[in-house]
This record gives sequence, C-alpha cells and structure tokens, in this order.
Amino acid sequence: MTTPPSRFEIGERDFLLDGQPHRIISGAMHYPRVHPDQWRDRIRTAKLMGLNAIETYVMWNFHEPVRGEWDASGPRDLGRFLDLIAEEGLHAIVRPGPYVCAEWHNGGLPTWLTADTDLRLRSSDPRYLEAVTGYLERVNEIIVPRQIDTGGSVILVQIENEYGAYGSDKAYLAELIRVTREAGITVPLTQVDQPIPHMLEGGAHEGLHKTGSFGSRIGERLAVLREHQPTGPLMCMEFWCGWFDHWGEKHHTTNFADSARDLDELLSAGASVNIYMIHGGTNFALTAGANDSGRYLPMVTSYDYDSPISESGDVTEKFRAFRDVIAKHAPVPAGELPAPVDAPVFEVALEPVGDPLTGVDLGEFAAPPTMDELGPGVALVSYETSLGTSRSTTLAAEVRDYAWLSVDDRPAGILQRTIGDLATPIPAGDTLRLLVEETGRVNYDTKIGEPKGLIGAPLVDGEALPGPWRVRTIDVPGLYDVVMDAAPAPHVAGPAGLRGCFTLDGPADLFLDTRGWGKGYAWINGFFLGRYWRRGPQRTLFVPGPATRAGENTIAIVELEAITQSSARLLARPDLGHEVE
Ligand code: GLA
Repeated sequence: MTTPPSRFEIGERDFLLDGQPHRIISGAMHYPRVHPDQWRDRIRTAKLMGLNAIETYVMWNFHEPVRGEWDASGPRDLGRFLDLIAEEGLHAIVRPGPYVCAEWHNGGLPTWLTADTDLRLRSSDPRYLEAVTGYLERVNEIIVPRQIDTGGSVILVQIENEYGAYGSDKAYLAELIRVTREAGITVPLTQVDQPIPHMLEGGAHEGLHKTGSFGSRIGERLAVLREHQPTGPLMCMEFWCGWFDHWGEKHHTTNFADSARDLDELLSAGASVNIYMIHGGTNFALTAGANDSGRYLPMVTSYDYDSPISESGDVTEKFRAFRDVIAKHAPVPAGELPAPVDAPVFEVALEPVGDPLTGVDLGEFAAPPTMDELGPGVALVSYETSLGTSRSTTLAAEVRDYAWLSVDDRPAGILQRTIGDLATPIPAGDTLRLLVEETGRVNYDTKIGEPKGLIGAPLVDGEALPGPWRVRTIDVPGLYDVVMDAAPAPHVAGPAGLRGCFTLDGPADLFLDTRGWGKGYAWINGFFLGRYWRRGPQRTLFVPGPATRAGENTIAIVELEAITQSSARLLARPDLGHEVE
C-alpha cells in the first residue's frame, strides 16, 4: 500500500514532516526475531502504545549466509515487513549495518566474510568494502522504493552502528554514505553512539545526524548529545528499557516504573525516541550472538529483553506504563489492551532414535581446521585422531566454544570456554574424538569474526597431537530431518535424537519446557526453535503459533549431553528465569 509522498527532513531544531515539526516515537522490532506470520500482530500491538514508527536492523548474515546466495523471502522478506508497517500507518527506520551488534550472531556479519582473517573489518579495507557495497546495494533495492518521499514508510536510515565504540576510519564512513546515497536513499542518514564524547566523534561524519544509545541518566546524556549535535532534533535511537541474557547468568529485568520515568524525562525534554526493544522476540535457530570482554558469554535463545511486548506478544506492565507516559505527550489509540492468554498445557512422550550426529565425512586433515575453514554455517564439528596412549593423561585444547571428548567411544570429559575449562584428564586409549560446538559468535568489540572450532592441535602432556585428523561436519539445521527419518533406538545415553507427535485443535503459541534436558536443539514441525541448555536462566523455549497447526504436529530434539526426561512438557507460561524484584 502506498500513501501520498511526503518530505521528511532534519530542520534547525526538529525533524520536519512536510515542513512541520515532528517527533518520532518509535520502537525496535527485528523481523528475523519474529515469525513472519506474527509481524502484523506485533506491529499492531506496538501501535496501541502510541508509537508512530517501528525500527529494525537488517542482519546481513540472515540474508546472505553463503556468499552470493541472497534471500529476501519468507522470514527474510524485509520489503513485506516495511510494507506492513506502512499499512498500519506507521513510519519505519532501517538500520542496515553492515554491522549491527544486536546480540546477533557475529554482529550480523556473514561468516564467509569474517573467515578471511586478513580483512580489516569495519574499515576502508578495499576487500571488505567490496563485499559491503554488494550487500548495501541489495538491501537498498528493497528500502529505496519504500521511502516516504515515494509514498512508503521509511523516514530514516542509519549508517553502521555505534561505530565510535570501535573505530574512527572516516574513509569507511564516507564510503558507506556514498554507496547508500548512490543507491537512491534520499531520507536523512543517522549515526548512533553512546553519549560519550570520543564515541560520538569517532562515529561522526558530515551528512550523518548524531543520535544516542542510552537507557538512564537522561538529562545528562541529552546534554552530551546536544554538545556534539548542536542543531536539529535530539534523538535517543536506543532507549534501553530492558536487557539481554547470557547462558549461566541471571535473567535481566528492569523496573518498569523507573523505565517509564526515564521515558517521560526523554519525551518532556522534547526528544525523539526509539524504544529498544518494543518487542525483542527470539534468537531462533543458531542466530544468537555472544559477548567477550574478558570472558566469553553466549546469548540465550530468548530475546524477550524484558521489553513492553513480551516474546510471545503479550502486553506487559511495562507496556501499560509506557503507554500512560506517551499519552501525556502524544495521541494514543483508544481501546482495550489484549490480556495474556495461557498456552495449552500437555505432555508428549518422546521416542529415542539414537545418535543422530554422524555428519558428513570430509576426510583427513594434517592439522585440525577451524570451522571457518570448513565453510559458512558450520557450527558442530567432530575431530578424530589417533591417541595411542597406554596411560591416562591430560588433554588441553583451545575450543570455541564447547567440546565433548571421547576416547574409544567412551565419554572422556568436557571442555568449555565460557568457564575457562580448557583441560581435562583423559583415559588411555587409541582414538580421541572431540565434538566441538560453536555456541554463538561474538557480536561486539574486537572479537567479532574470530575463528571457531578447534584452534590448533590439542596438547597431550604438553605435546601437540601430531594428527592426522578425520573431520566430520554436522549440519545442525538439517538434524530435524535426520531425527525424523532415523530408526528408533532402545534407550538414550549420551547424544541422542528424540521425537514425538501431538495434536492441536488449531495453531497455538506454546512454551516448551526444557528443564529435563541437558544441552541441545529443538524443533516443532521442522521450525528450528533454537538452543536449550540446562545452565539456564531460560527454562522454556517459545514456539510461535504459526509454526504449529491443527491436527498432528511433530517435535524433535537433539540432545548433545544427557537428558533425564524423555518427554516434552508444554507449559502455560514462559519461564525465562524470572526473579521477583
Ligand atoms: C548497543 C547496540 C545494540 C544492542 C544494544 C544492547 O546499543 O547498538 O545493537 O547490542 O547495545 O542490547
């Protein structure tokens, strides 16, 4: 649907919509984190809060996981997402990166790009820029016809993301701006940085309007932003009203009344805002990122973010409080807010199918290759070599990120980077196997793009194992089919596939309880829900209703460690590790 073209500009003090001062009250919602059949529902709910815009990042690696294989269909249909925003009468802000951070795998950069360790990422390195140019041209083909001046919804496009926290290569920013403008983007371009002087200046460039990312100390942050952006509107491009979770840490919540007060302060100061996140959604499949500023910490599957619209689309207390605040400053649609509904509760017996992790044999390698050297999308690799020791010994290995060891097919320990456990005793035996899992690629700071898998040859008693190495890759998304096609197995011990069937009267959102399972992956009807891990804090996985159907449904899990319960329980409400404040 198109509406008459409008002009959107940056004036001396304000954003200008057809020449009139305009305040943006936006909310962030990342289309890859929401099932496409729920996009419209989430946009409508956001609109009920009084928002006039929706913002999304574009994740490059979601669209081009393999170089040259661009996909903008189905869950990747950015054009449709922007059109739905337009149909609901809202504006759109697009932040195509190419780097996005966002707690997303590799900060959005494809692994085929970062596998080239000679590239200088996020810089004017010509080889990096060549790839980025191709990407931006494709993304902008989608955005350009949807800009407000041609009757679409898009009012702003951001260049890079918090670049000042990473670098200050002005030639890089200049090139991103040039490519974006040449592709036909006519709306104002913005940058975002934390309101810290060197960051705001590092990410600055002529032609970019500075915005800030912050969630508290509003007055102080706006003052710093104003010093560095003396004219035009003030905008908090990421008003952090919640936070993300790492495996093994506590679940983050922020007090909704405090957040509402901060939002009020922001709006009272006349600033524009993008609430980060209005609806966080889910890191489906293997899309979760990780942090590492001294300790590697992978992200959980949920990206609920304690945001006003919960992961399953419910209106929360924070939503109501924010809506009341917005109503003081702008019109808010009238009407009842939908009340949360309990999801169906039932239990499904699971049938074991034995170890589904055979994978594809890539033959022998003199030295253990990294996952990056094995091709894009590799996240689970089996490395096997001859051990030939007649006594038990100690093995040390740099694994990224988690490895199950076996000697002559007997479990022989676990190495895990997140807690710094990189050595373990192993028994005597002939064949050593390491099954190495990548548990999320770092999305922030200097470790973006670091190689994964086995890094160098493991040491036994201080000596590098000589190899050769037999290497097998396991296609994790493909494991659903492996489990569904496999023959039943009598019992479960160690890595296993399990499957089951259940019937529903109609499609329904579900909450899959993972408490009785160790570490692995889960699917419903082939839809890859993501990872689960006993470590928590997340205890349930969100199953979006459109992934289910009336009649028979299938569930499959791949357990990498050890399960204590071979059934699947579906619960009424999510459990993300909530704490009472
Ligand atoms: C920064 C980034 C976002 C996100 C938030 C934290 O502001 O710009 O992409 O990572 O931090 O959620």
